[in-house]
Parts: sequence; C-alpha cells; structure tokens
Amino acid sequence: MSRSNLLTFSALALAAPKPQDIDFSLVDAAPDADPAAPLTDVTVDTITIIPSTAMVTVVAAVVTDVASAQKRDFWESLTILILTLNSPDDSDTSFLNYAPFKVASSAAATQSGIPQGYSLAFSNLQASSQTVSYLSLKILSKYDPIVCASYCDQLDGCVALNLYFERDPSLNPNATSCANPKSLTNIKCVRWGVQITPDTAINDGQWGDNFHVVIAGSNGYNKNAAPCSQPGFTGPVELGGAINATNDSATNTNTYMGYKFFSFSQIQTYDNGVSACTAAYTSQTGYNSRHPPAKGNPAVCNQVVVYVLSNNNQPQGNYCSMYSEA
Ligand SMILES: *[C@@H]1O[C@H](CO)[C@@H](O)[C@H](O)[C@H]1NC(C)=O
Ligand SMILES: *[C@@H]1O[C@H](CO)[C@@H](O)[C@H](O)[C@H]1NC(C)=O
Ligand SMILES: *[C@@H]1O[C@H](CO)[C@@H](O)[C@H](O)[C@H]1NC(C)=O
Repeated sequence: MSRSNLLTFSALALAAPKPQDIDFSLVDAAPDADPAAPLTDVTVDTITIIPSTAMVTVVAAVVTDVASAQKRDFWESLTILILTLNSPDDSDTSFLNYAPFKVASSAAATQSGIPQGYSLAFSNLQASSQTVSYLSLKILSKYDPIVCASYCDQLDGCVALNLYFERDPSLNPNATSCANPKSLTNIKCVRWGVQITPDTAINDGQWGDNFHVVIAGSNGYNKNAAPCSQPGFTGPVELGGAINATNDSATNTNTYMGYKFFSFSQIQTYDNGVSACTAAYTSQTGYNSRHPPAKGNPAVCNQVVVYVLSNNNQPQGNYCSMYSEA
C-alpha cells in the first residue's frame, strides 16, 4: 500500500483481504519526530500538549498530507547484548564488581533503554525484587528490557518486571564432593503483579554450601497506566501484542479493514494518538456509509487496535489497525 492511497480514506473501503502484517514502508515514509532533550539552563520548562479534542484536526490533516519524507533505514537488526562474567577469579566479589553488568544496566535505565509503556523503578541494584505477587520468570539470552517487557505484556495482570544478572552454580553445591562449583551467569526476567520499587529489591542472594549466589545490574520497570476510554468505544483492553484477526466464522470474510499511522511529529503523545485513531475510524465508518460498495453493506469499524511502534526502542508513532468485528 503506498503512502498516498493509505492517506486517502477511500483506500480503506476495499473489500479485498489485506495482509495484517505491519506495513514498515509507510512507517519509514512518515515524518520522524525530532528528539528533544530537556533544557539544562532553566529551573522550569513547560511544553504545551495538544488537547486530545484537537486530534480531529490532526486526522483531517493526515488525509491531505503529502509531504515527502526521507526514508530511513531503521529496521536494521538490533544489537544483541549478551554479557556473561569473563573473570579469571570466579568469585562473588568479582561478579559484583564486573563493569559490563553495570554498563548494561545503566544503558537500560536511560530514556532510550526503557521499554515503551514502562517507567523505570530502579536500576543497577545488587538485589532482585521480592513481592507478594510473583508471576514467574524466564532466563533470557541477552540483557534486554524490551524482551523482558514483551514477556510481561504477554500475561494479563503483569504490571512490573525485574531484569538482572545472577551468579548461579553450574552444579548443585554438595558439601562432600563440590562445595563451591564454578559459577555461571543467568540473565533473569521476572514478572510481577504489583508495582516494584527500590524497597522491594531486597533479595541480595543466598549461600548453597560454599557457593554464594549474588545479583548485579538489577533494573526494575513498572507498566504505565492504560489510556483513557474513548467516546463511542468500550475499553481499552490491554493485549500482549498486535493481533492477526481470523475471518468471520459465519461468513468466512476478512474483518481487517486497514490501518493508519500517526507519527509523533503529529500527535506528540500516545494518548493523543489513541484519540486520533478512534477519531479516524469514526470518520472512516462515516465515509464508508456515504460510499457503499456495489454489493453488500459498507464496512463499519467496530474495533481499533492501537500501539506505539518503535525502532530500536525509539518510538516512531501510533499504529492503528481497524476491524469490522470486536
Ligand atoms: C554429594 O556427593 C556425594 C559423593 O559424591 C554423594 O554420595 C551424595 O549423594 C551427593 N549429595 C547430593 C545431595 O547430591
Ligand atoms: C496472519 O494470518 C494470515 C491468514 O489468516 C496468514 O497468512 C499470516 O501469515 C498471518 N500472519 C502472521 C504474522 O501470523
Ligand atoms: C478470508 O476471507 C476472504 C474474503 O474476505 C477470502 O478471500 C479468504 O480466502 C478467506 N481466508 C480464509 C483463510 O478462508
């Protein structure tokens, strides 16, 4: 789908089935928002956020927006960061002092390291969280908060995650045969059903015979609140990912109607993007009813799926998919 026909509502009146995969070419073509750093020489700085009611104007502007944008090759593969201890003396102290763990943990605490939709609770602690609402863990092959956030997103009720390096024994310590086995490093991603804080990061390891389990580079993240409800829509309902809708079971017809992409240069905030999305689809339903197909009924938008699409964890914009069935 080209940019121009996407930006024309009539393209969305097509009845033909469309692939529901993310259309990166359009996202590449959309204008990028300029990253801004906070000013350092002021004590107070205010930014005017576009009111969500103004999103109707943004939606209208998108329809006529033909600005040519530079295509950037930003879908290159992510750098994979696998860090394990590489120290001549396999001790708990060298693990705790190992600089690359601190570097990885600090990088994952910067604005470009924090997963979209989450806020940093703590970073670089030498203890993991312990709370009343443990929801399982996964060992990752790289220290990557985005992979960990995706693990949290896949479970209803997960509201926080803790990512850290743990010094574990390579064999079960055994007082008679092997009281202090060689260590291995596990990168653990733990999900929680309650928010975490530095005060919940109280598990600083344990002893198994002479082997000392210790923790480094512990970062915590809490999920941000869901956006507000939107006029004419129920929800929102949180999902673990974008959806690939099946055909309607009774009529075996495609329920996917198309998508829109709103760059952060237009919408500024995720919440505004949600308003832009629902406003666009309300307009779309109106458009379809004014331009009915030759056969059958005009498609009515009954569900919108909205998410922030990021490149290397740099948010690009809101991707909105529209469906004729909930
Ligand atoms: C510890 O090692 C001894 C000797 O190899 C063995 O007999 C014993 O079963 C081991 N204990 C455990 C808990 O594995
Ligand atoms: C989505 O579903 C269609 C058919 O229902 C299938 O061809 C396509 O591979 C699916 N895409 C993904 C990403 O699963
Ligand atoms: C889904 O519906 C479309 C028509 O809307 C049809 O062309 C397509 O074959 C259907 N897919 C499957 C898997 O039956």
